[in-house]
Amino acid sequence: MNAPTGEADGAAAALEALRREHDASCPHCTEQIDSITQMVFGEGNPEADLMFIGEAPGEEEDRTGRPFVGRAGKKLDEIIRAMGLSREAVYIANVLKSRPPDNRTPLQPEVDACSPYLVRQMQIIRPKVIVTLGGPATKLMLGTTVGITRLRGQWAEYVDEARGLAIPVMPTFHPAYLLRNYTPETRRQVWSDMQAVLERLGTR
Ligand code: URA
Repeated sequence: MNAPTGEADGAAAALEALRREHDASCPHCTEQIDSITQMVFGEGNPEADLMFIGEAPGEEEDRTGRPFVGRAGKKLDEIIRAMGLSREAVYIANVLKSRPPDNRTPLQPEVDACSPYLVRQMQIIRPKVIVTLGGPATKLMLGTTVGITRLRGQWAEYVDEARGLAIPVMPTFHPAYLLRNYTPETRRQVWSDMQAVLERLGTR
């Protein structure tokens, strides 16, 4: 994993500036302000080698202002620990930074309005590997409409030529899906995806 360097201060400051800009002007989240408790920007190591991207805050995330702290978050924590990593070493964010009503799946106009901030987060962090958790994050990062069941476990790439970015992306099941379908097969699939990630990061 990346050792802390002076560049971390620059990335941390850039993320903080982006957070302030987002909270003041995101066309999606500022419209939700009366129906949410708070926005959930994302958290973790500003220089993380590994970035996890989920869907949107749920009830607990809305209450605490932190990503992945509810039931699905506990499962993600377990996965991160099983990889020999910690939450502090990675960065965790979502496609949407405010909770959709009744936790429904994000709508395309919501994604279009909010996700440019996620893309800018990623451009600041410049992770070596991205793990997309579930359909909405995978669709956004890979610009595809193919379902997660077909894409999971296969390396893809997020390319931004203008910024010199070509980041390997590993799509996997969302931890909430894993919890709903807690079978030996889905557990094996997610674990095999994470092993591929560790291999790519050179940590196993
Ligand atoms: N599900 C998500 O996709 N993100 C969270 O932060 C929590 C649950």
